Amino acid sequence: MGIKYLRKVNKKYLSGTAIVRLDLNDDGYRMERAVPTLKYLLKFANKIVVLSHKGRPEPSLTLRDNKKYSLEPESVKLSKLLEKKVDFIGHIRLSEAGNEIRNAKSDSIFMLENTRFLEGEKEDERELAEHFASLGNYFVNEAFASSHRKNASVTGITKFLPSYAGFDFENEVENLSKIMKKPKRPFIAIFGGAKISDKLVTMLSFRKKADCMLVGGALANTILYLRGEKIGKSLVEREMDGAMLKIAGLKNLVMPKDFRKKGTIILDIGPKTEKEYGAIIKKAKTVVWNGPMGAFETKGFEKGTKKIIKEIATSKAFSVVGGSETLVLIRKMKLEKKFGFLSTGGGAMLEFLGGKKLPGVEALKK
Ligand code: 3PG
Repeated sequence: MGIKYLRKVNKKYLSGTAIVRLDLNDDGYRMERAVPTLKYLLKFANKIVVLSHKGRPEPSLTLRDNKKYSLEPESVKLSKLLEKKVDFIGHIRLSEAGNEIRNAKSDSIFMLENTRFLEGEKEDERELAEHFASLGNYFVNEAFASSHRKNASVTGITKFLPSYAGFDFENEVENLSKIMKKPKRPFIAIFGGAKISDKLVTMLSFRKKADCMLVGGALANTILYLRGEKIGKSLVEREMDGAMLKIAGLKNLVMPKDFRKKGTIILDIGPKTEKEYGAIIKKAKTVVWNGPMGAFETKGFEKGTKKIIKEIATSKAFSVVGGSETLVLIRKMKLEKKFGFLSTGGGAMLEFLGGKKLPGVEALKK
């Protein structure tokens, strides 16, 4: 794919300060996946500076107002995982941070405060990107889950420093590319959750690629609503544009036949649907899945999603699952080893599979 992989870089080029972009915008799983890259860099780099975003804070608010988006708890978690002190820089004055980093002893690791507290991060502002770059000598992107975002700490920074994809980033790109090249058939996709707009591109590109698409969650409600069916007070995304209507009309969609409800609100797929989806999964050779089948965080409405997890875990199909909510449940059920590949990306995985060029991936090409 022409991406510059850290794995292939001569170690003599890794001796300076490494700036490592992580995605710490989940329950901690993405951090765990980044540990091999960080441990490798600890062997060769003089210092490490970790950058990440968390949530969608407004940069104009003060740090105190934005406290729930602070990365301080993540710096504590990372210290534990690496068994090494991580110095948290709890402000966003980059020049000052630069001095702290330069004056620190060799072998130090720093984590900066949430990059989205800074004006210009989301706009990929050149000046901010250059400022980030001034904190080190080379850049490693280990945040595949952020690679669909054109942000200063993801894409802009690569214009100023030698930049490489971390081990897990490489893993993501290779596994997701493999599944799309020549998937073994039957190839089925499963789409659930809300955020239907995030899934448009992928579902449209799968209309020919996938043998069928099983649908659940608020996505199913929205399609039923667009088809004129009664869905009571269930959650739907009402901004109907042409693409959504196109999706509602796709021939290879398999829609739920029954539901678990609270009053008129659909909260999960029902037992008949579970059975039908289970039978389809059993015959599949390749499965791609994003988004839960229902409101799995509410007791009684996790059954559909759990059933899908069990069916995929016991099937012989090569499976790729992404999206942090589903991954949380799979890990709770201790079934992660039964899946072909767990993608850390939600939106990023979907866009990649939909054939879109991701800015964070493109920026690492030679
Ligand atoms: C994610 O969790 O999908 C990534 O961290 C991107 O977050 P965002 O959608 O807020 O940009």
